[in-house]
Amino acid sequence: MKISVIGTGYVGLVTGVSLAEIGHEVICVDTNIEKIEMLKRFKSPIYEPGIEDLIRSNFEAGRLSFELNTAVNYDECEVIYLAVGTPQAEDGTADLTYINQVITDVKASSHEDKIIVTKSTVPVGTNAQIKQKLNEGSDVHFDVVSNPEFLREGSAVKDVFNPERIVLGSDNETAIKVVADINEKFDAPVIQTNFESAEIIKYASNAFLATKISYANMISNLCEATGGDIYAVTYGMGLDHRIGDKFLQAGIGYGGSCFPKDTSALTKIADKYQVDSSIVKSAMKINEQQQTKLVSYLDQIYPNVKGKKISLLGLAFKPETDDIRDAASIKVINELLKRDAEVHVFDPEAMGNIKNIFGEKITYDETVDELLQDSEAALVITEWEVIKKIDLSEFKSKMKRPLILDGRGIFLDADEDSDIEYQTIGRKGAI
Ligand code: UDX
Ligand code: UDX
Repeated sequence: MKISVIGTGYVGLVTGVSLAEIGHEVICVDTNIEKIEMLKRFKSPIYEPGIEDLIRSNFEAGRLSFELNTAVNYDECEVIYLAVGTPQAEDGTADLTYINQVITDVKASSHEDKIIVTKSTVPVGTNAQIKQKLNEGSDVHFDVVSNPEFLREGSAVKDVFNPERIVLGSDNETAIKVVADINEKFDAPVIQTNFESAEIIKYASNAFLATKISYANMISNLCEATGGDIYAVTYGMGLDHRIGDKFLQAGIGYGGSCFPKDTSALTKIADKYQVDSSIVKSAMKINEQQQTKLVSYLDQIYPNVKGKKISLLGLAFKPETDDIRDAASIKVINELLKRDAEVHVFDPEAMGNIKNIFGEKITYDETVDELLQDSEAALVITEWEVIKKIDLSEFKSKMKRPLILDGRGIFLDADEDSDIEYQTIGRKGAI
């Protein structure tokens, strides 16, 4: 099947490459010429383990190509995937500017019937609107299938080839069958339902995972106040198979391009229909506070950090990605700059993206040694392997004051080391 995938971001690129890998002929389309040029050199615009090998092998096999949106002929493809961003708008709803732009493009340049597959996360009711917009006044018949994506950044290639479920929502059985056949080689249960249910499955799943994380963080705050140990508590909880140990890790909260925008969009949809979504709103509020928790610890230790070197270990919203969208690091850096601290940062992949925001206001250290040298506090933001491997002796020998504020609970042994001042999320203040 010849397919075009519009949007070569975290979702679109991985989707396009995976469909090519299972034998389809795929054209990946984008409006960003730099991205298209990079992809033609088998370079990925995003950091995603394993993606560049798949780009090269499928391109060389003639199954994968890259085109600028102004150069592509949509009539070559019976099926078109929409994977453009749906970022959070100012008012917290999902911004559908890019979706509407692409619909206009596709409608204007299609002369044969098409099936549009919506990969992007869109508010409940959007797929029905997309179908209505495409068909009004058109000589061409468009069917639409909602096919939300569940991949996690940093493990997207693994996730996309091992989906736990394939969700297909439409008002047309034939269209669903076509898309189910496209996905046949992904051995996973296929849920066939209507537009609204498919859209809700995506939001409900992300909001549930985000709420589970905030629940763990609420309990970690209770532990800090009472002397409990969140690591023992979540271990004890997670052994109950009904709760499970996944997405129960307390820390400085969730970031990324999904949980923050999807929880916000869900509550806006609920508000629109007068449905009480306070459980998700509470999870959002707890997460907001959690992301700058290390700064509140720092304020208790240093009444004034002006001119002090404060080091951030990690910047990305999670390990194995360069994505900093809604990352805790951005909020922490802003708070430290308000306090006139000398902010130093290190991250294996995300420093370039942070530099686009903070420029010369902060210092980018290429090694952990540089980062820790003469530092007066080390804040653990992202649990990269290279950070988890730092030996405690490094902190003691390099730092001016061996003080670790651990946002991801990766240096728990430091709690037993009398030469290190250590505070982690979810344990009573040791300082
Ligand atoms: C995706 C999904 O779109 C989003 O709904 C989901 O919640 C997260 O994953 P993402 O892949 O992260 O978003 O988007 P982004 O990384 O911003 O990439 C979108 C791509 O679409 C960009 O490369 C952008 O240049 C491109 N684009 C945007 C187009 O090709 N055409 C447009 O009109 C607008
Ligand atoms: C998420 C969903 O998992 C995925 O199914 C959906 O398609 C997109 O959104 P992603 O945002 O890429 O994926 O990363 P994820 O691994 O879910 O982590 C999200 C955030 O939660 C990260 O900031 C991570 O640090 C945080 N997290 C995760 C916790 O704080 N505790 C946990 O136990 C798990």
